[in-house]
Amino acid sequence: MAARFAQIPVLPLDEAFAVTAEFKADAFPQKVSLGAGVYRDEGGKPWVLPSVKKAKEKLHQTPNLDHEYLPIQGSDPFLQLARDLVFGDSSLPSSNSSSNSSSSPSPGSGSGSRSKDNTKPQTKNVISFQTISGTGANHLGAQFLAQHLRPKHVFISDPTWANHHLVWTVAAPDVVQKTYPYYHPASRSLDFDGWLTTLENEAVENDVVILHACAHNPTGIDPTREQWEVLAQLFKRKRLFAFFDSAYQGFATGDLDMDAWAMRHFQTVLFGSGPEPKTETKTKTESETESSATAGNDDEVVVNVQSSTQHQQGHPGLCIAQSFAKNFGLYGERVGAFHLSLPLSVSPAGAYSQLLRLTRAEISNPPLFGARIVQTVLSDVDLRAQWQQDLQTMSLRIRSVRGLLRKAIEQQQQQQQQHQQQQQSSSGSVATAITDWSHLESQIGMFSYTGLTVPQVQRLKEVHHVYLMRNGRASLSGVNEHNVHYVAAAIAEVVAQPIDANE
Ligand SMILES: Cc1ncc(COP(=O)(O)O)c(C=O)c1O
Repeated sequence: MAARFAQIPVLPLDEAFAVTAEFKADAFPQKVSLGAGVYRDEGGKPWVLPSVKKAKEKLHQTPNLDHEYLPIQGSDPFLQLARDLVFGDSSLPSSNSSSNSSSSPSPGSGSGSRSKDNTKPQTKNVISFQTISGTGANHLGAQFLAQHLRPKHVFISDPTWANHHLVWTVAAPDVVQKTYPYYHPASRSLDFDGWLTTLENEAVENDVVILHACAHNPTGIDPTREQWEVLAQLFKRKRLFAFFDSAYQGFATGDLDMDAWAMRHFQTVLFGSGPEPKTETKTKTESETESSATAGNDDEVVVNVQSSTQHQQGHPGLCIAQSFAKNFGLYGERVGAFHLSLPLSVSPAGAYSQLLRLTRAEISNPPLFGARIVQTVLSDVDLRAQWQQDLQTMSLRIRSVRGLLRKAIEQQQQQQQQHQQQQQSSSGSVATAITDWSHLESQIGMFSYTGLTVPQVQRLKEVHHVYLMRNGRASLSGVNEHNVHYVAAAIAEVVAQPIDANE
């Protein structure tokens, strides 16, 4: 046994955590961390959101809170609020928290189905599970889809959050991973044509495509609404399964609805919107009855029939992996949800029972405290308003840092140029000579895909003690008005190096 353990190959540390460890070990006083995807305040410190602080106080003052297990699927009031956040909330927060905690499926209680607003998607056939943050939701989704949708391929953007590949490798090893082009380095913009062409030519029915709901990690570049519309039509026509990874709702623009636009649009295109669909009751088939046994359902299920949605027959559905790490600053509490949206013609009972099974085997019951915090904030009008202000605080700070950093780098480069002209010296070719830093401002969310090369990133670390990911991704929350000039000078210095000095 010991010999076998001795043969286990040592894997490299995950890069994000390796960069953070190197940063921590560096004793240089002016060191700067642009590695980890976590929010920092103007003083470079972790920020506990005021809304979260108040929710914790409220919870501490609630005398009868117990510490019982949650149901396997998680807290139903939390799940309903989480689902409303994704698909649109048409009611006051307080009216959302009246769910029961039974283990039967509770699709269709989402706000979209209550809404008379035709622009809101209906959510009659959405089932939701509490997960271990966004990673757990990605994992549960990958496992479930591999077993029950059985796609031939999963398409992942190139580049992407590195964990997407790992999650699918571990949770769904039989699904072939493919990438779709996302980023065009020369123009530092979205490679939309490449993306469409790849899906058009290589994706087959039931293939899963991972989509970043907003604030694409690492590029900070999102499709426009028109581009999302084109994609949604392609998914509908080719019957592709959209897997939205939503880790930054509210954090990207500060506006929860804007950041959810793509998810809601897909849901509307695939499953309709507005008024409640007609419902009829049918008796379950034998196999449905069997597969829903563990969900504890009655023998009758409600099947939704909507004439305008007949054309979607055969479309597999879509899902969302929702994280509350960034938008609540609850990184360590691991609060998340997995939402599976099925065609209206499909009973959710089987899928629900299988998700119960997977969750039971993996975590039995999800954790309580973080979900309580989120639930408390979202269900209280004042706390929710405070939270929306907190989102503005975070997203506005990042946006202002983008402008400051761009200006500071461009100033540094102008000074360098003047200096060179005075010296009348030409130091030969400079590395990539990025002189236009507008992408810092046009990108969105926590990260900037700076365009810095691997040797430049290396030099930033070794000479200037500024840490970021090898692919040039910088977490802008590490920049503030105290260090912005230091960071800008360091970046200007590394891009001014002759090419061979950077190789
Ligand atoms: C794109 C993306 N998806 C999912 C996550 C999941 O994070 P967590 O598991 O902390 O919620 C992250 C976090 O960095 C992310 O950037």
